[in-house]
Amino acid sequence: MDHFVVTAAPDRQRTDCAIVGVYDKGALSTAAQELDRRCGGALARVIKRGDFRGKVGETLLVSELKGSPAARVVLVGLGASDKLNRKQYRKATASGLAIVLKSGARDAVSYLSLEKTTQTDAYYRARFVADAAANALYRTPDLKTAKKPPVPALKSLGVAVADRADKANAERGLRDGAGIAVGMTFMRDLANLPPNVCTPTYLANAAKTLARDHRNVTVKILGELEMRKLKMGALLAVTAGSEEPAKFILAEYRGGKSGDAPIVLVGKGVTFDTGGISLKPPPGMDEMKFDMSGAATVLGVLKAAAELKLPINLVAAAPACENMPNGRATKPGDIVKTMSGQTVEILNTDAEGRLILCDALTYVRRYKPALVIDVATLTGACVVALGNHLSGLFANDEELAQELLAAGLRSEDRAWQLPVADEYGDQLKSNFADFANVAGREGGAITAACYLAKFTKDMRWAHLDVAGTAYMAGANKGSTGRPVPMLMDFLLNRK
Ligand code: BES
Ligand code: MN
Ligand code: ZN
Repeated sequence: MDHFVVTAAPDRQRTDCAIVGVYDKGALSTAAQELDRRCGGALARVIKRGDFRGKVGETLLVSELKGSPAARVVLVGLGASDKLNRKQYRKATASGLAIVLKSGARDAVSYLSLEKTTQTDAYYRARFVADAAANALYRTPDLKTAKKPPVPALKSLGVAVADRADKANAERGLRDGAGIAVGMTFMRDLANLPPNVCTPTYLANAAKTLARDHRNVTVKILGELEMRKLKMGALLAVTAGSEEPAKFILAEYRGGKSGDAPIVLVGKGVTFDTGGISLKPPPGMDEMKFDMSGAATVLGVLKAAAELKLPINLVAAAPACENMPNGRATKPGDIVKTMSGQTVEILNTDAEGRLILCDALTYVRRYKPALVIDVATLTGACVVALGNHLSGLFANDEELAQELLAAGLRSEDRAWQLPVADEYGDQLKSNFADFANVAGREGGAITAACYLAKFTKDMRWAHLDVAGTAYMAGANKGSTGRPVPMLMDFLLNRK
């Protein structure tokens, strides 16, 4: 998709499709009024007939407008003019684009970006357009043998700015939005694949394509032999019951100065989580193919950062394996030594994410990171606490937590902070090892974070539990691309 910025008013801009806003009770926005004048009041008549009211997200395609330089006009409802905020702008933009993509328009311009919208600026309004368009165009790679539905005709999408001073900001917004979408698409494609295709080896190969496609990206893959040498006893315990070899994926992007301490992202890469000997019940077990969403996130973010040439150094570290039961599988009660030297009694083999992450978090100390953020579909308890709308955020550094929360707000990819408090960590007591890997049902998302905190002392660290947000179940089953937008917003605001 090509993107461009438009400074001309809609009555002077030729396009296949103009997207203009209409407020409550059919009040035309300025852009709609300008177009309306060129086509002899045809838009006002549509409203007068009662065919359009202007509720947020309402849409109507009007074509064959005499005198209009736009072959089609999509009216989009914006609600009350004094209440237009970021969320409504996003909703309106997305519904306008959905109609454009169903039409035969090959190019289009959105004028919704001209409206006065709280919580956003020209940069963000343009960024949302590029990111929403790419996500609307996303198709899940599937193995259906029937003919595929036709691809939308849209090739080029513009966004309007009110004055020339905003042109550069909007251009930057379009570029960043498209870049974020590249990261999300990379993530979603990986996470949507079936688990017999997307194995740890497949993930490792996908990481290698990043090194091939981007200058400044190098990739190193550690195998089980190296894990043994590094004494990653916890990671090896999880993969013990699987026939698929585990891989520890390390991708580095160097966009900053050589001395700049890197930001390290660690992503859980369990390509299928049966629970192991603590076997999960059958309903919904297929969804555990998404248990590598953290790994896919950190690789997607690294790709987007490389694509946008962010002036930072970034490391994506993804421990990848399956969690399977077999005769060699780890048993409840087994005790292993983690890379950190601390011993863990594995009371539940289904709490495997924290086991692979703890060794990865120990390993990444060698990068002397400026900060570490791990991303994991870690606990069902987080879904019970926060549902499917907000991710769980934990941190041992309040400033980092606030930065991530703000990034989530700006990118509409929100998180909610939960505590990392000693009282919860004490629940991990074991009679036989330094601690156990589980601590009972209560506060399960928090005790999991407290387990990780035992491995991140003296590092600036945050943990995102995305069990409820990284994918959708049910009729729209599939990867959401989250939390790529939040992390990208975080990185974009640090440069
Ligand atoms: N991958 C799951 C967490 C999960 C659950 C993700 C639901 C997405 C949706 C994780 O490995 C797991 O099984 N966690 C256990 C932990 C428990 C044994 C302490 C859980 O949440 O039940
Ligand atoms: Mn599990
Ligand atoms: Zn898991």
